[in-house]
Amino acid sequence: MKIGFIGAGKVGFSLGKYFTEHKVCVSGYYSQNNNSSKEAAVFTKTKYYNKLEELIKASDTLFLTVPDGSISKVYSEIIQSDIEGKCLVHCSGALSSMVFSGISEKGARGCSIHPICAVSDKLTGYLELSKAYFTIEGENVDDLAEVFRSCGNCVEILSAEKKVQYHAASVFASNLVVGIYDLAAELLQKCGLSVEFASHALQPLFMGNAESIVRNGVVLALTGPVERADILTVEKHLASLTGKEREIYRLVSCHLVELAKQKNPGRDYRDLQMLLETERNGE
Ligand SMILES: NC(=O)c1ccc[n+]([C@@H]2O[C@H](COP(=O)([O-])OP(=O)(O)OC[C@H]3O[C@@H](n4cnc5c(N)ncnc54)[C@H](OP(=O)(O)O)[C@@H]3O)[C@@H](O)[C@H]2O)c1
Repeated sequence: MKIGFIGAGKVGFSLGKYFTEHKVCVSGYYSQNNNSSKEAAVFTKTKYYNKLEELIKASDTLFLTVPDGSISKVYSEIIQSDIEGKCLVHCSGALSSMVFSGISEKGARGCSIHPICAVSDKLTGYLELSKAYFTIEGENVDDLAEVFRSCGNCVEILSAEKKVQYHAASVFASNLVVGIYDLAAELLQKCGLSVEFASHALQPLFMGNAESIVRNGVVLALTGPVERADILTVEKHLASLTGKEREIYRLVSCHLVELAKQKNPGRDYRDLQMLLETERNGE
């Protein structure tokens, strides 16, 4: 496999370096700004191309590591060249290989490969990739899955129809946690605590919980009033909250009851479940 990168940004740099470190052949880089492709070529000890056509000729697999909004535009440029037998890959979490419409008529195939991790720095991102789990979606993807497995990554195949829901799952584990953490800090401030105190006080609780989830799994990590079936405390919490905080507390707690039942099969959660399911916006 000879992998060429179109788009020398965070993911292009990181995947290219990751591949070369694992002896996977990288043909080089093309990017809209020549300086970016030159820098990526130096970083990965590969080549840079100032003509897209030349990179396409030098590669059998092309990674379109451009922003999601540019994938279709770059694809429309690529199909001006002969791509017979080649594989086109993009790395968007939300888009599927369907963006490569009409690719089979060109004698080529398309897929999407997504690392379930954040790549925030183009020079150090490759170090994070060794821990990343990857999903692959598209046509005849076994060879690409094998490339990542040979690098030591866990890889699973995903269907195109599930791509958006899959991306929403990642949002639950990252962005939505950010939102809930911030609501918690706001509530501390509403209790009269200082901004400075509120922004730091939750950190040990948050980190301890995150470590416990990773180490023990969600069921064993669960503690608190829902897990204890402490209906009086949950009732008081709901009475102290309003608006979206109350609704988020209620809805997430409904799910926590399901985890609590797994942790304590002998405990009776029926009254708590009824309270959470019937309570709506303080009515
Ligand atoms: N960053 C993450 O955490 C992450 C994680 C998983 C998946 N992804 C996915 O990976 C893909 C790339 O994201 P990224 O974070 O690497 O973005 P990025 O850092 O913004 O890099 C994108 C690069 O694409 C180049 N580019 C833009 N339009 C182009 C065009 N028309 N032709 C050629 N090159 C073009 C730009 O190059 P110049 O420098 O030359 O202008 C830019 O450096 C996206 O699909 C994203 O959803 C990102």
